[in-house]
Amino acid sequence: MSDLIILKLGGSVITDKGTDCTVNRAALAGIAAAIAGAHAARIVVVHGAGSCGHPEAHRYHLDKGATAGETDGIYVTHRAVSALNEAVVSALREAGVPALGVHPLHTGVADNGRLVMFESRHLEQMLALGMVPVIHGDVVMDLSRGACIVSGDQLVRYLAVALKCTRVGLATDVPGVLDGGRVVPEITPKSAHTLQIGNSSHTDVTGGMKGKIDELLGLAREGIGADIFQVSRLGDFLAGNDHGGTKVRGE
Ligand code: IPE
Repeated sequence: MSDLIILKLGGSVITDKGTDCTVNRAALAGIAAAIAGAHAARIVVVHGAGSCGHPEAHRYHLDKGATAGETDGIYVTHRAVSALNEAVVSALREAGVPALGVHPLHTGVADNGRLVMFESRHLEQMLALGMVPVIHGDVVMDLSRGACIVSGDQLVRYLAVALKCTRVGLATDVPGVLDGGRVVPEITPKSAHTLQIGNSSHTDVTGGMKGKIDELLGLAREGIGADIFQVSRLGDFLAGNDHGGTKVRGE
């Protein structure tokens, strides 16, 4: 059986994070061409929100949950990130990739900000049919907070285990995890606390690079490594070549 790859596209790669919901169509076209060129692999795409979801989630304080009568933010944020999902799916389909959008709001349940249930059998069926499911960070109903934001990185961690994937890649707008301006080639649970990792300069309700690494270290502890690399090196990652980025591994 071919590799099963989970590929996360950072929101800052596929949107212009400086302005309100602007899709970066040129970046999406390049990503779609790279995925279309990776014939052998089975791929699940997970994307972030960037400027199509983070500002809305922040405006409506969804990171703190939702209460009865204060639910507009759930609709507005889901609508923003769903529109981005449609743009990602369209770009992939235009490149000949049989992509299909899947919304976590419809298939997942969280408790205290963490997914406690996410149906994945339909994803297995899509993969068996040769399709590429395209999932995204989303608003999810939360058993204790009413609603919460589940990041694409949390979905990566959950799905990598549930689908027993063999490789995890995160395409970002930087060459890897940077410490003092240099790419850190490898991060393990032991080395992680020695790093000085900067915060995102844009609105980010899910913890920026630090949130990402925490999720990936959790995954590494469960035996699944992940690679963080610049989106321009996506073709190298998909081909299994060196990508010049950061590998997150268990001890
Ligand atoms: C955020 O997902 C989802 C919403 C705000 C609706 P991510 O946290 O994965 O998004 P990026 O990659 O940081 O933009």
